Amino acid sequence: MKKTVLSGMRPTGNLHLGNLYGALKNWIALEKENYNRFYFVADWHALTTGFDNSKEIPENTINMVIDWLAFGLSPEKNTLFVQSLVKEHAELFLLLSMITPVGWLERVPSYKDQIAQLGKAKTSNYGFLGYPVLMAADIIIYKAHYVPVGLDQVAHLEFTRELVRHFNNITKARVFIEPQPLLTEVPKILGIDGRKMSKSYDNAIYLSDSEEETAKKIKIMFTDPRRKRKTDPGVAEECGVFMLHKIFSPKQLQDEVKEACAKATIGCVECKKKLTENLNKSLKPVREKRELLINKKEDVKEILVEGSKKASKEASKTLEEVRDAIFSTNRLR
Ligand code: TRP
Ligand code: SF4
Repeated sequence: MKKTVLSGMRPTGNLHLGNLYGALKNWIALEKENYNRFYFVADWHALTTGFDNSKEIPENTINMVIDWLAFGLSPEKNTLFVQSLVKEHAELFLLLSMITPVGWLERVPSYKDQIAQLGKAKTSNYGFLGYPVLMAADIIIYKAHYVPVGLDQVAHLEFTRELVRHFNNITKARVFIEPQPLLTEVPKILGIDGRKMSKSYDNAIYLSDSEEETAKKIKIMFTDPRRKRKTDPGVAEECGVFMLHKIFSPKQLQDEVKEACAKATIGCVECKKKLTENLNKSLKPVREKRELLINKKEDVKEILVEGSKKASKEASKTLEEVRDAIFSTNRLR
């Protein structure tokens, strides 16, 4: 039987290079494999820590999916949908909550990390505690075998598997399978301040940035701190600019830059100029497609509505089995 892959992204709006070359590139690579593929916008998850900004979620959803499509994710080869349009996720979330020990949730590493980052006031809601249960429901409702995610999500996958074993044990049914993370190698991408590229650090280069904005950002980007003067040699591998050359520049130029940086025969200004040219050139068709899609938001919505119907059909089959497993096959229908 064909295996299933599934992944989700919170609706953060416009995507940056880290999102595109970290997650999305892998999703697109999976189009070559023989899988059922589901990708969705985790808009309910966005509410767990962002209820204040709930009104922005629909716009952020569309803008994010525009970037998925512009970058090349196929709406034919993949089922693209929105979590909140597939209500079955909520029912499974509710049922799973009944068997989830609160202690397990408190022990999920991101729980404490997020409380430390966002503060107690923003993380005292029940839905935030239950985040991993909703994520588990998202995955197992499609009986997904593989979940392409970043390292930061591996603990959530482990939680999901534990919950699957727990459910199967309690109900003596084998409705769910244990999903595995699909950890593909991702390039390291730094933001303009030398930290990890992230929307929340305000250091990112976006697909939605114009060529001029992109050039400006690269101009002020941190480089290898060893190169205080142009005559100081540097280590390209430790420079965020070079990390981008590795994505956008031909191999020959990469090799030249690496050597010239080590010998201090190239200046950072020139190095950045070359990167800017190559980056803007690579993204040009993607940015053009993005412009086209911005004027076709109704079509994008249609893709998501249709995808959500398809997902809902799959999800409701599993839910039938879940209800049987819990209430017996004699239940009221
Ligand atoms: N937690 C994921 C993130 O923040 C988003 C997500 C929600 C997800 N449900 C999922 C990812 C199910 C994979 C599978 O990035
Ligand atoms: Fe980075 Fe290029 Fe400067 Fe080397 S020359 S430090 S790779 S920007």
